[in-house]
Amino acid sequence: MKPLSRRRILQLGAGGIVGLGTPFLAKALQKEYLVAPDFSRDFTPPSTVTSLHRLATTKNLLFGTATDIPVLSRDAEYSRHCIEQCGLLVSENAMKWRALRPAPDQFDFTGADALLNFALQHNLLLRGHTLVWHLALPDWFSETVNTQNAERYMQEHIQAVAGRYAGQIHSWDVVNEAIEEAFALPSSRSDGLRVTPWLEYLGEDYLELAFRFAAAADPNAILMYNDYDLEYDRPDQARKREAVLNMLERLISRGTPIHAFGFQSHLLGHETRFNPDILQTFVRDLTSLGLKIMVTELDVLDRDLPADVETRDRIVAAAYEDYLTVMLNEPSLIAVTTWGLSDRYSWLSEFGTRADGLPVRPLPLDENMQRKLAWNAIARAFDQARSSPDA
Ligand code: G3I
Repeated sequence: MKPLSRRRILQLGAGGIVGLGTPFLAKALQKEYLVAPDFSRDFTPPSTVTSLHRLATTKNLLFGTATDIPVLSRDAEYSRHCIEQCGLLVSENAMKWRALRPAPDQFDFTGADALLNFALQHNLLLRGHTLVWHLALPDWFSETVNTQNAERYMQEHIQAVAGRYAGQIHSWDVVNEAIEEAFALPSSRSDGLRVTPWLEYLGEDYLELAFRFAAAADPNAILMYNDYDLEYDRPDQARKREAVLNMLERLISRGTPIHAFGFQSHLLGHETRFNPDILQTFVRDLTSLGLKIMVTELDVLDRDLPADVETRDRIVAAAYEDYLTVMLNEPSLIAVTTWGLSDRYSWLSEFGTRADGLPVRPLPLDENMQRKLAWNAIARAFDQARSSPDA
């Protein structure tokens, strides 16, 4: 296989890298670390802050993280930190089709119910993730759902799931990742829509159907479109931002009930092309459509950073603070959730592994639940944030 050019490698976002396999790419980047740590940068957090959630609430904002009951129930230490640091949880996997749908005519709400009960018990809000996605589908889906019955399966699913939790969900990721991977654009479709079973069976109408079914099932929830590979000043991500905007404009012009946009925000520690003005312009383009904004899956991939922990932690913290400084400056931003709270539990431990085999360090707390510079960086960004008119 011809070695990928450095440019091509950089074009691969977290999602693309997951597709290619990390050892190959990490090796290709082995010698060149693209981001130099600033050892003079001050990451001192606001002195009185102990909880990111409590700090966020002083700005009428929300902070939280993704998790699920298996971890919370077996790890009391982690559970305690989630309760202390968060005002909002999002289900990492328990509300996906694969978890909810053991069979075409069956639902299993055990995990989702347990997470909601945990949230209610600890006075936490809960985000639902995700009603319509092309991944985490049950094994029976491909041999059962087709052009004739896809709308019925989608409607039944959304009615049952969003209907069951109606009035108890802060916001739903109604549709997740409907636009193609940034590096794959321009794709075969001029609209950049990812060719998923939903698109194949229902055409682009599946997007509007999903939001209308969700609005009917839970009129109280904030209904969101959620996507990634949008954060950097790169030609491929510029194409993705354009495709996302065009899709949302089409949907909103038809009166589709979309209330907010979710920036997944899986940041890349090695990526140097972060341009605050480009990001701010895109956020304001989305806001001009009447959308609120949430940062929904925030973490920083440190796979291609130096092994040295202090170096890595500084680069990761800078990525957090630089990104959140832009996002938290926007009145339309209402919530920030990380995709995990501690390095003890991160999807990147499986999907973003380092070639040197060292544990990854993408999240605010380390594997011993100690605050890292990343935690400080998030606290600093919230401390400097403007207050939001509404969370
Ligand atoms: O629960 C089963 C377990 O019973 C089984 O033994 C094991 C065998 O591999 O699999 C377990 O399920 C895994 C599940 O996570 C729970 O751990 C699935 O294999 C695994 O594919 C699944 O990965 C999740 C992934 O989405 C796919 O659904 C990650 O935890 C989750 O962090 C990741 O999150 C996604 C967002 O939903 C969308 N945005 C991107 C983000 C990162 O990929």
